[in-house]
Amino acid sequence: MTEVIAHRGFHNHVPENTLPAFASALATNADAIEIDLHRTKDGHLVIIHDEIIDRTTNGHGFIKALTLAQIQTYATRNTNGPLFYDVQVPTFRDLLTYLAEKNFTRTLVIEVKTDKLNYPGIEQEILDTLAEFDPQYSVIFQSFNLNTLHTFRELAPTAEIAALTFIITPKVLMGRRRGDFDYIHPDITKLKSIPLMYALAKRIGHVRPWNVDQYADQQRLIRDGFAGLITNEVQKALALRDSIN
Ligand code: G3P
Ligand code: CA
Repeated sequence: MTEVIAHRGFHNHVPENTLPAFASALATNADAIEIDLHRTKDGHLVIIHDEIIDRTTNGHGFIKALTLAQIQTYATRNTNGPLFYDVQVPTFRDLLTYLAEKNFTRTLVIEVKTDKLNYPGIEQEILDTLAEFDPQYSVIFQSFNLNTLHTFRELAPTAEIAALTFIITPKVLMGRRRGDFDYIHPDITKLKSIPLMYALAKRIGHVRPWNVDQYADQQRLIRDGFAGLITNEVQKALALRDSIN
């Protein structure tokens, strides 16, 4: 069955990558929640997508140049959306605490945002933080940075690891063959525009494309038995999957 993964939580009515977005994802019964991780100037792991806080808060600046306290003075929002003054950028610990309180048993997909910036040692910090919480749910580590994935494989040999990519390149295929990661997460727009790549992805099996928001794409992947799909349209994907299976 194709897993439905809530991209940045379910954020149609609340800001992405916030606790309300994760609560909404749980309420929809999504199979997994996807988050993005960066690190603040004072060493806190925070859940936010961009390298700067400008798009999703009413603040300004690089996360790596701001303290957690500074970042949490700001309200959050979706792109061009209304500000939520009572919802702040959460820490990784905030989410892990919340999931423990909720007895979460599904899957947490952690994207490590090392594709544009270098956060030395972030992989070990993530693993150490997770270990403190002893999660009773599955965890998948994903990144566009293949070195980050390699580090996770070395530090946590049995962890589930996925390569984020735009297209499935020979380098990505070789990385998977070498065992650096288990799954490939390619861009659906590229996948559907290159029929040979789509056929390859279907044959590989361990593939979960992103961001699969259009009905026809969701339908095709579910019918073709893809392992999962990462989407902003969580409810639509779940309803469609129910109707197909
Ligand atoms: O999970 C896939 C997706 O999150 C990758 O792109 O930019 O939304 O983090 P982005
Ligand atoms: Ca992401």
